[in-house]
Amino acid sequence: MPDPKELIEKAERFLKQQMDMYGDFSMKFPDSTSLENQNLQKNNKPTKDQVREVSNNYQVETGQDSVQPEKPERELTKQEKIAACDTLEELRTLCENADELRTDLDGTNLVFGVGNPNADLMIVGEAPGYNEDQQGEPFVGEAGQLLDKIMAAIDFKRGDIYIANILKHRPPNNRDPKPEERKRSLPYLLRQIELVDPKIILCVGRVSATTLLNEDTSLSKLRGKFHSFHGRELMATYHPAALLRNKQWKRPTWEDVQKLRKRYDELGGK
Ligand code: URA
Ligand code: URA
Repeated sequence: MPDPKELIEKAERFLKQQMDMYGDFSMKFPDSTSLENQNLQKNNKPTKDQVREVSNNYQVETGQDSVQPEKPERELTKQEKIAACDTLEELRTLCENADELRTDLDGTNLVFGVGNPNADLMIVGEAPGYNEDQQGEPFVGEAGQLLDKIMAAIDFKRGDIYIANILKHRPPNNRDPKPEERKRSLPYLLRQIELVDPKIILCVGRVSATTLLNEDTSLSKLRGKFHSFHGRELMATYHPAALLRNKQWKRPTWEDVQKLRKRYDELGGK
């Protein structure tokens, strides 16, 4: 059984130490003589309850920011800033200020994404080209017009779906996005996918499919079936720009998007 005096001295030392570390705060020191007189049993040994009472008398009256040290102010990490975006508009603003989304082509515009913010089908392409950069909108050039036709063939208007790219800025000379560019851009796209919350994602082209599925293989190996992707379904098919050069890929693309439409309806897409 600890001696109450010792307990008191220990508590005082502790509180003084805390005060040195965290600044001033007020506390009540009960008068130790009166404690002795009031609380000690005849044999001068305190009961368990008395010891507890003595300890409870040492509750510190804290000001708002005394004993608990304030967390130091710090910059949010990139991942925290992205996660803090609760709307597509907030994410767009973050992207506008994110230099890491730029390529080595100077002066490009952000091509964030377009369409129904609650779409059940989201299409993910590769990267903006000249026209997309000029207009700040994905798939508005020749490949975009073909994409619109493919979507119309399975009864989707452009406004029904949501369209984005792996990269949000145009690479120089329309070269393939570099692995490090895709890696820097991916966390933003993943948040964009969460915010749109589609039932199905359609990746057009190898860059899109291999980046999202994180599998370095050919498009022909990935296309035409449903992959599981963060609790959603993902299909890959040919890129419309590839179809413009390779007519033999139109047929398999047609078959892929028919399957896509069927699955969309099965999943209750609206
Ligand atoms: N090709 C793409 O992958 N994305 C576009 O936005 C335009 C062309
Ligand atoms: N390779 C690609 O990058 N895209 C296609 O659509 C087909 C082959």
